[in-house]
Amino acid sequence: MTAPAQKAPEKKVYIRTYGCQMNVYDSSRMADALAPLGYGTTENPEDADMVILNTCHIREKAAEKVFSDLGRLRPLKGEKDLIIAVAGCVAQAEGAEIMTRAPFVDIVVGPQAYHRLPQMIGEVKAKRVGAEHRKLIDTEFPVESKFDLLPAPRQEGPAAFLSVQEGCDKFCTFCVVPYTRGAEYSRPVAAILNEARGLVAGGAREITLLGQNVNAYHGTAADGGTLGLGALVRELAKIEGLARIRYMTSHPRDMDASLIEAHRDVPQMMPFLHLPVQAGSDRILKAMNRGHTRADYLRIVETLRKHRPDLALSSDFIVGFPGETDADFQDTLALATEVNYAQCFTFKYSARPGTPASTMDDQVPEDVKSERLTILQDLIARQQRAFNAASVGCTFDVLLTGTGRNPGQLVGKSPYLQAVHVMADPSLIGQIVPVHITTLETNSLGGTLEDARLPGAGLKQEPQVARR
Ligand code: SAH
Ligand code: SF4
Ligand code: F3S
Repeated sequence: MTAPAQKAPEKKVYIRTYGCQMNVYDSSRMADALAPLGYGTTENPEDADMVILNTCHIREKAAEKVFSDLGRLRPLKGEKDLIIAVAGCVAQAEGAEIMTRAPFVDIVVGPQAYHRLPQMIGEVKAKRVGAEHRKLIDTEFPVESKFDLLPAPRQEGPAAFLSVQEGCDKFCTFCVVPYTRGAEYSRPVAAILNEARGLVAGGAREITLLGQNVNAYHGTAADGGTLGLGALVRELAKIEGLARIRYMTSHPRDMDASLIEAHRDVPQMMPFLHLPVQAGSDRILKAMNRGHTRADYLRIVETLRKHRPDLALSSDFIVGFPGETDADFQDTLALATEVNYAQCFTFKYSARPGTPASTMDDQVPEDVKSERLTILQDLIARQQRAFNAASVGCTFDVLLTGTGRNPGQLVGKSPYLQAVHVMADPSLIGQIVPVHITTLETNSLGGTLEDARLPGAGLKQEPQVARR
């Protein structure tokens, strides 16, 4: 297939993405939406005619980073006619404050209004000719869906992301997402299947379905009925050429039987699941409004592993939630020990404005949070090292996604989301090949192509430092 001839972009947009995979997905959609206006992307803000900061509000540090980055961008604005836009969850939560604290920002656009970005740019420019700047804020939750109005994704490579669900109705007491992303919304089944077929036709072998609560998915099917995520996965598995399906982030409350059984029944389902538990103490889970107990979570993990014995798990944990005692924290350690994770994300509780937990009594002192974080991180690091060490000697199907840092080296993904380096010919990029894992590196695994007839299989790794 040849791409339609396109004019060379006349202008450049620099997009900086913070936060979760949903933001990564949204950033590419914004780039797609700006392409018809003549914008190509750049990695360098100094070359840009427009800068978009796609922001995250989840913890205080993430949100504050936006203001320091804006401070650094400000001098660029004096040098040329630069448009600065703030998008994402800080835009949604603190739109007016951004305009006050950083008055040189032209556009503030919330996550549900990205399809209106081209129009907003037009308005900012029109107003600029001979007049003072006009600032635009759009943080509505419009009735129309941005998904219907943004262009279809362009070629994404062998491992693609596909947003199927957005928003959250769960209201965990610590979390800003229900306020910044709005209510749960599921895209219709047909739109998702179309997008998936397009991605596969463009070379994708693996698709990760995205959503803030991806397994709360309940999209409308062609017959007017509703499909859950388990059924959607079964539909996607019918697409020829789609070899791997993943999804994130899922909530324990929405792990229904159909989805759990899909892990057993659908060969394309990868044996790795991110299933955040946040804490191991029932008292804290209740105060967090998670809607499940420790036993519920462990039961789900047990059933999943019964269906898929090689399943590896990851989780998010928060330490130092208001009222968390040493005994509660011990429950978290015990749960992590029992599940034995392949990896995890661990966070210190950060009080977020407007969330119920931020005004709870018994806020945990910072030094206690730090101490607990270190202890939990040590445990998780040991589990992760053991998991990766156990991979040495195994043969994994590896999806080769690109070139590695060293000459002749390719990089790919194991079924368990581990990065794997292997000497192989670049013609193999986009293929899934068996790789014999031989070495454990700091953040990745190293291996050799199992099939010696594949191009590049005989190549030896070059020494990293040239000898004189
Ligand atoms: N929807 C997902 C997670 C979304 S946010 C879920 O329900 O699991 C990603 C992670 O950030 C959360 O899992 C949580 O561990 C962390 N997080 C969210 N709010 C936080 C806060 N106020 N302080 C610290 N960590 C937080
Ligand atoms: Fe936040 Fe809870 Fe919703 Fe996840 S489920 S996005 S942690 S409110
Ligand atoms: Fe951050 Fe918003 Fe994602 S707050 S984690 S960018 S949904």
